[in-house]
Amino acid sequence: MNVHLYEKLWMWASGVIIAVFVASILYTSTAQSLQPPSHVETIDPQTVRASAEFAQPAVVLHADGSATVHVLAMMFAFLPTEIRVPRGRPVTFRMTSPDVIHGFQIVNTNGNAMVVPGYITQFTTQFDTAGEYLIVCNEYCGLGHHGMYASLVVVDGLAADGGQEVAQ
Ligand code: CUA
Repeated sequence: MNVHLYEKLWMWASGVIIAVFVASILYTSTAQSLQPPSHVETIDPQTVRASAEFAQPAVVLHADGSATVHVLAMMFAFLPTEIRVPRGRPVTFRMTSPDVIHGFQIVNTNGNAMVVPGYITQFTTQFDTAGEYLIVCNEYCGLGHHGMYASLVVVDGLAADGGQEVAQ
């Protein structure tokens, strides 16, 4: 069978491109541990506003210096509107929505997740630079989407005793 030279070149080029794609997926998923969150936990979106965890969503500081942040993402706000977390300690976010899908992106950090009604989105990260960060919804969720934001304040010396800042 006679295959034209250009036909052969394109066949090889296609094969190489596929090999590069597969290799890059394997590399990022293994060597760089770039994986989607594996946490699957469901919650009834009809009753979530009255649930123990999300009725008064807040930051909980633990004795080891880490923090758990409970967030309700809803049309068109995040609760709490200001999230204060300790610098340089593990911070676990637990979030859900009572209405539609929202995004939760902490601008200029690696914190970025989708918040889906019926599920609890959970991820843990750490903030090494103190300061104020903007949190935005990055999933179009309705007419007030552009006004759905909150702030994350990363502070030094945030202690577990009632969330008060301790003297430096
Ligand atoms: Cu919530 Cu866009």
